[in-house]
Amino acid sequence: MKITIVGSGYVGLVTGACFSEVGINVQCVDVNEAKIENLKKGIVPIYEPGLDKMIVRNLEKGRLQFTTSLSEALKDSEIVFISVGTPPDEDGSADLKYVLQVAKDCGKYMNDYTLVVTKSTVPVGTSIKVKNAIQDELQKRNVKIPFDVASNPEFLKEGAAIDDFLKPDRIIVGAESARAEALLRSLYKSFTLNGHPILFMDILSAEMTKYAANAMLATKISFMNDMANLCEIVGADVNEVRKGIGSDGRIGNKFIYPGIGYGGSCFPKDVQALIRTAQENNYNLQVLKAVEAVNQNQKTVLYHKIVNYFNGNLQGKTIAIWGLSFKPQTDDMREAPSLIIVNKLVEAGAKVKVYDPVAISEAKHHFGDTITYYNDQYEALIEADCLAILTEWPEFKIPNFNIVNKLLNTAAIFDGRNIYDTYEMKKQGFDYFCIGVNT
Ligand code: NAD
Ligand code: UGA
Repeated sequence: MKITIVGSGYVGLVTGACFSEVGINVQCVDVNEAKIENLKKGIVPIYEPGLDKMIVRNLEKGRLQFTTSLSEALKDSEIVFISVGTPPDEDGSADLKYVLQVAKDCGKYMNDYTLVVTKSTVPVGTSIKVKNAIQDELQKRNVKIPFDVASNPEFLKEGAAIDDFLKPDRIIVGAESARAEALLRSLYKSFTLNGHPILFMDILSAEMTKYAANAMLATKISFMNDMANLCEIVGADVNEVRKGIGSDGRIGNKFIYPGIGYGGSCFPKDVQALIRTAQENNYNLQVLKAVEAVNQNQKTVLYHKIVNYFNGNLQGKTIAIWGLSFKPQTDDMREAPSLIIVNKLVEAGAKVKVYDPVAISEAKHHFGDTITYYNDQYEALIEADCLAILTEWPEFKIPNFNIVNKLLNTAAIFDGRNIYDTYEMKKQGFDYFCIGVNT
């Protein structure tokens, strides 16, 4: 079986690598020539654990290929996945220009039956636009070529993308014909044979499922952040409350960790896009609007704790930061809480010294020379007045606290991810501040 994946970003590369890993011939297409030239040599543009090795392995086996030519790739592919970006437009809605461009190009170049599958996260109803775009091009060419469209949204998480793709909780497919359904059932056979369920439904429901899933997860996080802030006021410990409610199977213990707000390229944009879809349909998604507002506020909570500690004045203070990516195991900083916190510290006159295991070069694009970068987590602490933790990288979890204490001017830690034990921190002699515990 041969397939084409259009868009070689996080989703396209992981999808392409994983399908080739299970023996399918995959052509990955991108418009970015430099990216494709590097990928042909096995140079992977993103940090995602295990991805580079998998790409190189399958390149060598000849099952994975990279090209900028969609027309060439389409020649012998029965299935084409669209996995290009759907960034937010100015009004918060998903910008479909990349998706529709690919649909148009499919119509321009397909010569035989083709199943065009949308894997990008797209608003409900997009598949109809994709279908129309293909149809328009076929009409321009004055040819009648049969094709189907389908929706197969992706649920992988960055940092755990390979595992999520190979061992999905579920595969969602919205298909409109038996032929499309059969093709996708057969493509995903090695996953379903391993016990991972595939759910077939209509296309509109599949498109909606993706947004509803991200919106529900974002809601859990904002709910917990709201609870955390209240816990601090009333003297409760949100870490205990989390365990207490998470042990109820109906609630579950995943995605209820309070922190400094959700970031990344998906939750923020998808929550906004769903609110926008509701508005366009004259429906007021009240819960999701609150989720968004709580998240905006949460991204400033740690900053305010630091300002209060220094009596409202950060002029001349030096703040060390551990962690800049929006979550561990990625160098992705899109919508990361660190973008807001670091900029606010700099604006308030503080000197900021940062360390992140993989996101330093990405951070330089965002902060330039307004802050100082370190390759060692302890070096960043020298002569700093406090330490703030913005990402829960494993290497921050059990540091040498004696060294931390010795290097800092003031033994103060602001932990935006609740990775330390409050009692232990007091014992080690730190002024310790985290989320949802009045320390
Ligand atoms: P990305 O920005 O990393 O990659 C998109 C790629 O598409 C880029 O390399 C770009 O050059 C390429 N591209 C744009 N137009 C093209 C065209 N006409 N032809 C060929 N290539 C083209 O995006 P991503 O993070 O992989 O996200 C893709 C989609 O998947 C989005 O809709 C996103 O919401 C969704 N999604 C992302 C994740 C994630 O973890 N990143 C998870 C699930 C779903
Ligand atoms: C998220 C979803 O988890 C994926 O299922 C989905 O496919 C993807 O979005 C997408 O649509 O692109 P991702 O953004 O990679 O994946 O990362 P998550 O692990 O979901 O984390 C998102 C943000 O929520 C991070 O900033 C993280 O720190 C925060 N978070 C997560 C919390 O604050 N608390 C939690 O309990 C969990």
